[in-house]
Amino acid sequence: MSKSYWIRTFGCQMNEHDSERMAGLLEVQGYRPAPSAEQADVVIFNTCAIRENADNRLYGNLGTMKRIKQERPGMQVVVGGCLAEKDRDLVVQKAPWVDVVFGTRNIEALPGLLGAAERQGIPVVEFSEALQVFPSALPSRRGSKIHAWVAIQYGCNNSCTFCIVPSVRGVEASRRIGDVLGEVKDLVSDGVVEVSLLGQNVNSYGRDVYGTPRFADLLLALDGIPGLSRVRFTSPHPKDFREPVARAMAESSVVCEHLHLPVQSGSTRLLKEMKRSYSRERYLEKIWMARRLVPGLAITTDIIVGFPGETEEDFADTLSLVEEVGYDAAYTFQYSPRPGTVAGVRTDQVPKPVVQERFDRLLAAQERISLQRNQDQVGGELEVLVEGPSRKEPGRATTRTRTNKLVHVPNPCDALREGMFARVRITAAAPHHLEGELVG
Ligand code: 5AD
Ligand code: SF4
Repeated sequence: MSKSYWIRTFGCQMNEHDSERMAGLLEVQGYRPAPSAEQADVVIFNTCAIRENADNRLYGNLGTMKRIKQERPGMQVVVGGCLAEKDRDLVVQKAPWVDVVFGTRNIEALPGLLGAAERQGIPVVEFSEALQVFPSALPSRRGSKIHAWVAIQYGCNNSCTFCIVPSVRGVEASRRIGDVLGEVKDLVSDGVVEVSLLGQNVNSYGRDVYGTPRFADLLLALDGIPGLSRVRFTSPHPKDFREPVARAMAESSVVCEHLHLPVQSGSTRLLKEMKRSYSRERYLEKIWMARRLVPGLAITTDIIVGFPGETEEDFADTLSLVEEVGYDAAYTFQYSPRPGTVAGVRTDQVPKPVVQERFDRLLAAQERISLQRNQDQVGGELEVLVEGPSRKEPGRATTRTRTNKLVHVPNPCDALREGMFARVRITAAAPHHLEGELVG
């Protein structure tokens, strides 16, 4: 009988993408997906290290696995991803029942490591300092039929003082444009209509292989692929986000009118301490530039509350920036000190209750703004892509606009199927979704 696997993914889309490759590798070896961790022969935790609570969750999950493994001694427990990179040998010191610990740059080694751990009967821990094989070259088991993640760049050369990513994912490595186009063409011939390009800093895509950034060229090249309808990308860094990319967004018929431009703070003083290499004013100029060049652009962001030394005045700058930009949505995070980062060792950490209070205020402001932005859509007509039946409400379909907004649409006869495009009129708005009805 074939063996089974179960993967639990934490963190960002890059991790989702890596998990699809792990699943693909195992399926090529004859493994099949298991219905639950309890029933799997191989259980993989693909971890994230961006904030501290991830650490506690992993070790909690591993505690559960210890009990399950006592009843099924043949099963193997694997820890991969960013937290594995951060903790390395510590994982098996804390949880000696783990069989394999591996990194983000040697995903292709997974089947071999499972075999080695089984033969040796002791945990196998293996990492690679340089990216061996672009995971994109590995077999994949995609979570969606119509959408795919496409990694264009791994690693990050920036040094934001709050961020652990450069230390766990290494230096930037870009794929060649031809490889990316080849992968996208294969995906389209497999039924994919929408791709999301992934990189830690997509604006600098290509610099390491071509000597100059080629992200705008890549966006334009994708426009010519028959059958490809939508292209998204995440994330650009504001310091490198310039006119050629915004112009390419406007010119290309497939690149969606959505820009996720993480600001982190509205205070120029804090941005300097975060080593973000832009001021509040420079950031705002880029927002206005993008809005001018790309009509109908939706803008979203990431914001950190409670960076060390953040004063009430700094926070007021963040609040006023949020109002000034009028983001469609913002991902807000409470600052979490990370080992090995410049900010993590600072002694002026903001007390937890202060962070919580500011965070609540920011969230409330953004909810109001998101609702307002969505209400502006009511009465208008938009093109949506059907993602499938609504998970919560039967008889409705979940669809998405080019601006990345969710639209729930009545679908009583099941006419709206995954992958179809439709025109809808927006009838109602909430902070995180819209309601619509089919037109025609
Ligand atoms: N604490 C809180 N949030 C963080 N982020 C990155 N590092 C930290 C940290 N130490 C947030 C940033 C980034 C997003 C992916 O996670 O906002 O853009
Ligand atoms: Fe993604 Fe960063 Fe988390 Fe790694 S640490 S999974 S790159 S968000």
